Amino acid sequence: MVALTERTEKRLTIQTVEIAEHTTAIRSLDWDRDRFDIEFGLQNGTTYNSFLIRGEQIALVDTSHEKFRQLYFDTLTGLINPQEIDYLIISHTEPDHSGLVKDLLQMAPEITVVASKVAIQFLENLVHQPFKQKIVKNGDRLNIGNGHEFEFVIAPNLHWPDTIFSFDHKTQTLYTCDAFGMHYCSDSTFDEDLKTIEADFRYYYDCLMGPNARSVLSAMKRMGELPSIKMIATGHGPLLHHNVAELTGRYRTWSQTQTKAETTVGIFYVSEYGYSDRLAQAIGNGISKTGVAVEIVDLGAEVDLQELRELVNRCTGLVVGLPPASSAASIQAALSTVLGSAKEKQAIGVFETGGGDDEPIDPLLSKFRNLGLTEVFPAIRIKQTPTENTYKQCEEAGTDLGQWVTRDRSIKAMKSLGADLDKALGRLSGGLYIITAKKGDVSSAMLASWVSQASFKPLGFSIAVAKDRAIESLMQVGDCFVLNVLEEGNYQTLMKHFLKRFAPGADRFEGVRTQAAENGTPILTDALAYVECEVVSRMDCGDHWAVYSTVYAGRVSKAEALTAVHHRKVGNHY
Ligand SMILES: Cc1cc2nc3c(=O)[nH]c(=O)nc-3n(C[C@H](O)[C@H](O)[C@H](O)COP(=O)(O)O)c2cc1C
Repeated sequence: MVALTERTEKRLTIQTVEIAEHTTAIRSLDWDRDRFDIEFGLQNGTTYNSFLIRGEQIALVDTSHEKFRQLYFDTLTGLINPQEIDYLIISHTEPDHSGLVKDLLQMAPEITVVASKVAIQFLENLVHQPFKQKIVKNGDRLNIGNGHEFEFVIAPNLHWPDTIFSFDHKTQTLYTCDAFGMHYCSDSTFDEDLKTIEADFRYYYDCLMGPNARSVLSAMKRMGELPSIKMIATGHGPLLHHNVAELTGRYRTWSQTQTKAETTVGIFYVSEYGYSDRLAQAIGNGISKTGVAVEIVDLGAEVDLQELRELVNRCTGLVVGLPPASSAASIQAALSTVLGSAKEKQAIGVFETGGGDDEPIDPLLSKFRNLGLTEVFPAIRIKQTPTENTYKQCEEAGTDLGQWVTRDRSIKAMKSLGADLDKALGRLSGGLYIITAKKGDVSSAMLASWVSQASFKPLGFSIAVAKDRAIESLMQVGDCFVLNVLEEGNYQTLMKHFLKRFAPGADRFEGVRTQAAENGTPILTDALAYVECEVVSRMDCGDHWAVYSTVYAGRVSKAEALTAVHHRKVGNHY
């Protein structure tokens, strides 16, 4: 049975579905999620999934985002009197799942909250009133009758430190919240259509789980000790039912690849301000674009100092997000461990978040410098609420760092091409173009020559975009951009401008004449022609994405002029 409510203006709806015996999914469908969080890059909205399980006693797994307050409680109270709920199982305390815990406990103060120790502590600060609680550890069980017995699996860092999975032995359903999820909103409750969801599944993994690949493998090892899992009831997107083995297999393979990467950068931060985890993640994404593995460590969570030391030793680069000077002794100890294990030749980058009582960033940086580390990007100092541009700055800083730690490898790879082949391939030539893109408040641009028309019907063309280009994150499927065509004999100024080395987050259009395209993207006034385009698909081509786009508008400014052509000598350069 599927019941859909009417869509409201903001396109928030709720879906309730019987997904297994005595088990109802309450899915909050957020069709137009527009906030700029990195992991929402594919713009397919998201869902927040909550589950009601009725044994002799009744358990609710997670709640919803606070923007669903009215809709969620209208739905829940239509299903059950909240006072009849015995247990509220909290998979982790991120606000999009736990945003309504306080309201629920006000309605039904007798509920026992079941969660990890860290999650309970966090909730105490959130709820500000005593509540019944049950702290669970790995392997603990909770029997609610009628065969529904939950077994808990600790899964720290997926993607919050306090995460637990809950396995219902009766329905063989594993409730995982963020893990194995995706930001994908549709009426489909399940994953029957793998083709339409797999890009979002991968993107979400790359953003949230990849930086914790070791933790993914540890959690999966614990999952392996459970009886066979029929369904993975995730907290975001469709539930996994048709492709459980396939999709969990992908998590395993991706995580194994990550942990085997030859180059790793560690990001060490403290999540106290609420922004620093997002900033760390944005830097991590930028690093990942260069093919370097990232390990993110929240120094505020329980950190094993020996493991921390080993990680720092293994890393080619370090990023440190400065904690407030007032932070706990354990955090300071962890920070000292990072500093004490850092060594010459490593790359370093730092970021600072929040208010006035921060530990001064410069003394720490000079300590790293004195140890012989190289500062690869200018310190990121954030004093106000981060904006889309702040996250982009972080991503670009991460990419700079990733490129720095892999620079020897890149040079070696270029040199390894045979001389004849290199020259022959160099005979492939193209035009000269500037790609410009804008997504929300963030804009970017780059010079490109690997551009070629690819179809008549529909009108479309391809561009090869290196995976570590700044503009790459604005060229996801569904994104719009402009292809500006440069003019023969009149392209030097624009080419020179866009080939400059821009600092992370720099405005690439400063000093360049532009006008806005229909889709808001800057068009270069001095270009010979432009076309407005939408990305339709992306093919993985090793170090580049072949981005196929269709075009829907365009103009030429000088009827007689020709396109600038780019001849080259070798195939291993543009
Ligand atoms: C003649 C020429 C053609 C280029 N064509 C491409 C291209 O087709 N795809 C690409 O990813 N980069 C291309 N590049 C590289 C980028 O334009 C340039 O290095 C980039 O703007 C810098 O990277 P960033 O934007 O990530 O900072 C080309 C560079 C030159 C000099």
